[in-house]
Amino acid sequence: MKQLFLVLVLMLSANVSFIFAQEEAVEKQIDQIIDQLSLEEKVKMCHAQSKFSSPGVERLGIPEIWMSDGPHGVRAEIEWDSWSYAGWTNDSCTAFPALTALASTFNPTLAHKYGVAVGEEARYRKKDILLGPGVNIYRTPLNGRNFEYMGEDPYLASIMSVPYIQGVQTNGVAACVKHYVLNNQEIWRSHINVQLSDRALHEIYLPAFKADVEQGDVWSVMGAYNKYNGQHTSHHEVLINQILKGDWGFDGVVVTDWGSAHDTKEAALNGLDIEMGTGTDGLTTSKENVYDYYYLAKPFLEMIKNGEIDESVVDDKVRRILRLMYRTNMDKTRPFGKKANAEHFQVAREVAQEGIILLKNSKSFLPINPETKQTIAVIGENATRMMTVGGGSSELKTVHEISPLQGIEERFINANVVHAMGYASGPSQYGRVIPSALNTDSLKKAAIDIAKVADIVLFVGGLNKSHEQDCENGDRKGLNLPFGQDELLADIMAVNKNVAVVLVSGNAVAMPWQSKAKAIVQAWYLGSEAGYALADVLSGDVNPSGKLPFSFPVKLEDNGAHAFDELSYPGDGTDQVYKEDILVGYRWHDTKNIKPLYAFGHGLSYTSFKINNAAVAKNNYKKGDSIQLSVDITNTGKVDGAEVIQVYVHDKESSVMRPIKELKSFEKVSLNAGQSKKVDFSIDVNAFAFYDETQSDWNLESGAYQLLIGTASDKIIKTINIQVE
Ligand code: BGC
Repeated sequence: MKQLFLVLVLMLSANVSFIFAQEEAVEKQIDQIIDQLSLEEKVKMCHAQSKFSSPGVERLGIPEIWMSDGPHGVRAEIEWDSWSYAGWTNDSCTAFPALTALASTFNPTLAHKYGVAVGEEARYRKKDILLGPGVNIYRTPLNGRNFEYMGEDPYLASIMSVPYIQGVQTNGVAACVKHYVLNNQEIWRSHINVQLSDRALHEIYLPAFKADVEQGDVWSVMGAYNKYNGQHTSHHEVLINQILKGDWGFDGVVVTDWGSAHDTKEAALNGLDIEMGTGTDGLTTSKENVYDYYYLAKPFLEMIKNGEIDESVVDDKVRRILRLMYRTNMDKTRPFGKKANAEHFQVAREVAQEGIILLKNSKSFLPINPETKQTIAVIGENATRMMTVGGGSSELKTVHEISPLQGIEERFINANVVHAMGYASGPSQYGRVIPSALNTDSLKKAAIDIAKVADIVLFVGGLNKSHEQDCENGDRKGLNLPFGQDELLADIMAVNKNVAVVLVSGNAVAMPWQSKAKAIVQAWYLGSEAGYALADVLSGDVNPSGKLPFSFPVKLEDNGAHAFDELSYPGDGTDQVYKEDILVGYRWHDTKNIKPLYAFGHGLSYTSFKINNAAVAKNNYKKGDSIQLSVDITNTGKVDGAEVIQVYVHDKESSVMRPIKELKSFEKVSLNAGQSKKVDFSIDVNAFAFYDETQSDWNLESGAYQLLIGTASDKIIKTINIQVE
């Protein structure tokens, strides 16, 4: 046994020294390349040559870098110099579920599968950087881009984004985690100056990026549009130089968001490596190459030439760019990737099935037995609307998209499925709203007519991917469902008591009709297999196991960001102050005692679970220890299912304000009907620290803590007292 251990240790250390030697060899090659490059060639590598590529060096055979959105699939090809689609016929993809759906699975293994699959498509399509994942924190339900992110909790976003990144990068494709940082609303995104405490920055908004760098080894990071403390985040002295590249040791490439560079000297000196998408200040009519006018192009070259900026600055950028290339397009061993295929659609379907959340289910209204002969009225525009189209840069051209109506029709063949739109929102638009020309009264009348005669109504509504819905470059105008859906639902519920509501959205909505709905399902934007996955859950073929990655407030003011004046949200047009500080999401609801409509971590199942015997190995710990916790869980119902055991910590005595609870661990457990399992957790005591502004560092205070074990942030079943010395 001892010998075997020794052999293993030797093998491991041999492996580690092999990797070090390899890395050293690459760094030497990079030095040699840099020595051969002219100053002009080096500067050229630091900015775009087209909408989605940056140049290589032809003379030396150094390849171009090709990038693509991200994060839910590989976007269709864009023209060289404009935002128009290039019209290729071989660029259709698998549309994977939006990242909110992935976060809702609470299943990091699935996040890895997702990353591998989307990375394979990026590789096949000859992309070197996939622009995702997005890990901006869900601060307000009005943010138009929440659907591209991983919810309100920094721990959840970290745990779910790291395997996604690792999965993508197994293909020799760089993930590009975005948008670094504090781009938590779309309104005024290009100039709003965000101010917040250091504590909120470090405890809430940075951790997912930090995990992606330190644990995910992400190869590129995208800056954001907004400012932080007066400086644009894409070239920020503190955020990039000090924190990202300094404290976290990030050795990859910082890319701008498209058009987020604003100053040559800052871009040069504050850590930006590749500038993309800059507007051309009217220079598009020039005979010269417009890209020469980027901040990191001619103006940068001039400053180096006249001695204002040292040449070592561009050398560092080129070294990082070449390092990314050795990891991607200059790695001769990288795999070839795969096109959209049955295997990828299966991954998309699995993520969708596990991401769907059963919010409410009165008297086991769901599942609907597919054998029953009955009339099912499917009402709502989202039953047929394509949701891979629209939303901004994450828009996809997918091989197929199964609508909810198609999925329901194909699964419930014994039922008489009838459909009415009920309301209409108008065409999917970016940056403007075009109202529908259809007649509201006739749409409503047709819906009520079928609702009256149906045995069951499935209302499939929510938001969509158009401007002021879930879409880039604009925020929602309020928490309520748009396009008259609340009124329509009230009218439907007046004529039919058996209404289940399916919400297709990437954001929380108000639910004035909540008490009258028999069941409520949060169905996100599920991509190519949306309708099939939804029918899987509605029919009971799949038992829902998704959990909310953010809280649903009853009303907008119940959300922390909206509990203050407009300086908190949306800001005064110039500045914005995050007044709720660290109390984002459930941290706000819990600490301020404001009951949410649906809490973070909530999600029902068609079966029931019982948690027993939560126990720790000991009750006293020192800094640096890890807590061994074990929990028994039993599926006490009649069908197989999965439950997410969530472990929160509560600090009982602290010198500073702490949220009532913070998520520190979770585990998704699949159990057959009647089955029990023991689940082990190992929790690092250091994770209980808070960011101490007086020391500008993390501080773990000694004292009494509690582990809160449950199945939602508002469903704590066991409490264990522990002591940290
Ligand atoms: C978005 C980024 C995206 C980029 C390229 C920007 O508008 O904010 O997320 O990757 O465009 O399409």
